[in-house]
Amino acid sequence: MHISLGVNGQPVEADVEPRLLLVHYLRDLLRLTGTQIGCDTTTCGACTVLLDGMAVKSCGLFSVQAAGREITTVEGLAPHGHLNPVQEGFKECFALQCGFCTPGMVLASIALLTSNPDPTEDEIRWALSGNICRCTGYANIVRAVQWAADKMRATGPAPTGMGAILAANAAPGPSQGGSHGAQGAHGGRDGA
Ligand code: FES
Ligand code: FES
Repeated sequence: MHISLGVNGQPVEADVEPRLLLVHYLRDLLRLTGTQIGCDTTTCGACTVLLDGMAVKSCGLFSVQAAGREITTVEGLAPHGHLNPVQEGFKECFALQCGFCTPGMVLASIALLTSNPDPTEDEIRWALSGNICRCTGYANIVRAVQWAADKMRATGPAPTGMGAILAANAAPGPSQGGSHGAQGAHGGRDGA
């Protein structure tokens, strides 16, 4: 099947088998390998991306289901090095861990903060309950989301995808103290 969609603000087209999962389309055809595969059974959240701003598990969708939609992967969050506030929060609060779970954690957090700019700790933990870390813990991740929420309430939400690229192009470089980028939406949670 022929599909057209947007990925990180760029239009893409492809001929795909109807059975091709979105995660394999992103990783194998587009080489966007920041989207991870941890289970292939919609359990771990490592494959989380934003679909029209909603957090979804890309191992649970066919690529044809993304036709006509906008996908944001972790590669689309920091054009030209302008970190998304959630990425900044992960850095500031030492929430960066193995790199396998982190992209999905970040994208799910962005989706949460778009729909709920001032979440409680319980709401953060619930929103991230479909994203599993197998080796450490969640305390610093919760702090990172709270840090990002504080920043986004103070400075306004940041865009993703093409909006982030346009914002980054209009801003001074990171070394010049430029602005940041992010946005998202909610959804795709499987529960704890
Ligand atoms: S690889 Fe998709 S949820 Fe685990
Ligand atoms: S799975 Fe990513 S730090 Fe444990």
